[in-house]
Amino acid sequence: MATSEQGIHKAPKVLEPEVFDLRKYLDGSRRLVDRALSGFIPEESARPQTIHQAMRYSIFAGGKRMRPALCMAAAEACGAEREPAIPLACAMECIHTYSLIHDDLPSMDNDDLRRGKPTNHKVFGEGVAVLAGDALLTQAFEIAMEWKTTERYAHRDVVLEIAKAAGSRELIAGQVADAEAEGTPITLAQLKYIHECKTASLLSCCVKLGGMSANCTSVHLEALSHFGYHVGMAFQVIDDILDVTQTSEQLGKTAGKDEIAKKATYPALIGLQRSRDEAAKFTQQAFDALAPLEDKAVALQAIAKYLLNRTH
Ligand code: IPE
Ligand code: IPE
Ligand code: MG
Ligand code: MG
Ligand code: MG
Repeated sequence: MATSEQGIHKAPKVLEPEVFDLRKYLDGSRRLVDRALSGFIPEESARPQTIHQAMRYSIFAGGKRMRPALCMAAAEACGAEREPAIPLACAMECIHTYSLIHDDLPSMDNDDLRRGKPTNHKVFGEGVAVLAGDALLTQAFEIAMEWKTTERYAHRDVVLEIAKAAGSRELIAGQVADAEAEGTPITLAQLKYIHECKTASLLSCCVKLGGMSANCTSVHLEALSHFGYHVGMAFQVIDDILDVTQTSEQLGKTAGKDEIAKKATYPALIGLQRSRDEAAKFTQQAFDALAPLEDKAVALQAIAKYLLNRTH
């Protein structure tokens, strides 16, 4: 006899992100991280004022704060609160913002608009923009030291994670390979390597740090690492797609630049529809990776779904 006919109704173990108020959740994460960042980063009045104005200009320009949200949601997925993860979430937002300031420089992507405002170098000049990026990168490590260690994880572990993700084998590797691929035909495998390095590494790091701040097991850390990697891959494929499909106003950065700069992107290589399919596939792989975390990963799952369908 079928189970249901016997009257045994086991609750389905299916997460329901639709009952989860993601907007409210992300607003809460943003508030936590913005307040903390404002305390961690020197005031604009601190000497020399120019550098602190430039750092705060880009940090508070209106980014989506998805990396801190993912970091804190990962902590919750491992049974902790968001609060202990705040220093690590802030450190990762500093590194991300530094990477954007440098990414926009005339010697790199040469962009005038970021987060809906003129880019850092447009306002402060190239010299200060380089230094504001340097200072945010360094600031990240200072902030990470504010994090309270757990039984399984020490400062050494988190600093190593951050340094590796931001270093010349990951984020920097991706930026170099991205620049070298401009105007050059490359394979899908080469493009995947660029996206892994320039974007997926940092997102995966954010999620792992959240787990560490919750004193997660090695099994959960591995699951978070896979989740972060796949969300990160989907994130960059969607970023490539949005550059083609959205307006500069919607994005807060100049749309259509990738084609003009002959960037290696998913739509350029495999077309828009296949790119959408790839992003959906990466997102599904991210969902699958969450299995060991069971129903505590509701926020992570909702964020991954949102990132796939985002419009900016
Ligand atoms: C842009 O990241 C850079 C990429 C890795 C594609 P975001 O889209 O998260 O930018 P902000 O932080 O919201 O400005
Ligand atoms: C940026 O990739 C990745 C970084 C490490 C900054 P993009 O160059 O595509 O990012 P956007 O489109 O300028 O935000
Ligand atoms: Mg770039
Ligand atoms: Mg760019
Ligand atoms: Mg882009």
